[in-house]
Amino acid sequence: MYTLNWGELSISEFLQHYWQQKPVLIKAGFNQFADPLTADELAGLALEEEIESRIVSNKNNDWQLHSGPFTEYDSFGEDNWTLLVQAVDHWHPEAAKLLDPFRFIPNWRIDDLMVSFSTPGGGVGPHLDQYDVFIIQGEGKRHWRVGMPDSSLEQHCPHPRLLQVTPFTDCINVITEPGDILYIPPGCPHEGISVENSLNYSVGFRAPSQKDLINGFADHLLDQNLSGERFTDKNRAVANSIGEITVADIKQVKQLVTAMANDDNLLPHWFGEMISQAKHELDINQPDPHYSPEEIAEYIEEGSVLTRVGGLRCCYYQATPNSDILLFINGDKVVIPANELSTVKLLTDQDHLSVEDNLLFSQSDSRLQLLTQLINQGYWYFSE
Ligand code: SIN
Ligand code: CO
Repeated sequence: MYTLNWGELSISEFLQHYWQQKPVLIKAGFNQFADPLTADELAGLALEEEIESRIVSNKNNDWQLHSGPFTEYDSFGEDNWTLLVQAVDHWHPEAAKLLDPFRFIPNWRIDDLMVSFSTPGGGVGPHLDQYDVFIIQGEGKRHWRVGMPDSSLEQHCPHPRLLQVTPFTDCINVITEPGDILYIPPGCPHEGISVENSLNYSVGFRAPSQKDLINGFADHLLDQNLSGERFTDKNRAVANSIGEITVADIKQVKQLVTAMANDDNLLPHWFGEMISQAKHELDINQPDPHYSPEEIAEYIEEGSVLTRVGGLRCCYYQATPNSDILLFINGDKVVIPANELSTVKLLTDQDHLSVEDNLLFSQSDSRLQLLTQLINQGYWYFSE
């Protein structure tokens, strides 16, 4: 278990003064930090086809980017390169625990845990990210510089797949040591150059853009074959100019577009399904053959406990305390009666279900049915 020591700060002060506003170093945020994985284990993950990995190297200012999987590192030499592995929380339960201290931000906003191993001089260069990130220093030391958003900065590509930014003025300039945590809001330029072989853990967040939202919502309407209402102009006035699209016309177009977004039978359903989809592959193994609810009840009775598959995205929406709950798991929606909120919270807020938690499921047929379905989908598995 990782416990975050906020020092002078509290979570609410952090949210009020720093989150999405300015970068901060939480010195020794994790006291006596123990890395959840080794560089060798990270290299093992980077061997896998389904795990996204890349190496960024910078020899004499020649920036190169190679995509994994990687079977050898000798060709990269001893310095000036970094290996980055995405969604390590999907594959490494110990590393996934590093997300827990940041769960004061809701599930749907958390993206994944990216882990990097950098040799001396290694880094991805000065750049901007679109998302908030907490960067935890694991073994080794790294020189980090972070600046405030600055519209005069320009982005450029020293390699076709590497976006960097022009030199920036820093407000944080520090050598991070094991357990230090840097928080960097979106749009703040930053650069980390390894001082020695070093592991860094990046807790990344999701923030959909307007374009993503409009695109995704439109796709949903198409999938559901929903055409909605059509433009009407029953009381149209005589046109001043037949070439003109009038202000009144545009006002009505806006109303038509926003009416769909305002429809509570549409938007929350789509949003929950979309935002609960994993961006990276999950380590899902469906039981074969599937369990029956009776078998699940027996295991529960015998005291088995359950674990949620790493990186599974679970969240819910309830418009009012009396409304049905929309439970979203990995892009699917299940509608649950309003009085089952505590059951839903067990599934969204916990990644382990204890013997006592499980008993709640065996107390009702519909809860047992739901749990059986989730186990048969490979989303939860018996871990003892
Ligand atoms: C890293 O190199 O570990 C983090 C890269 C970044 O700054 O986003
Ligand atoms: Co970054």
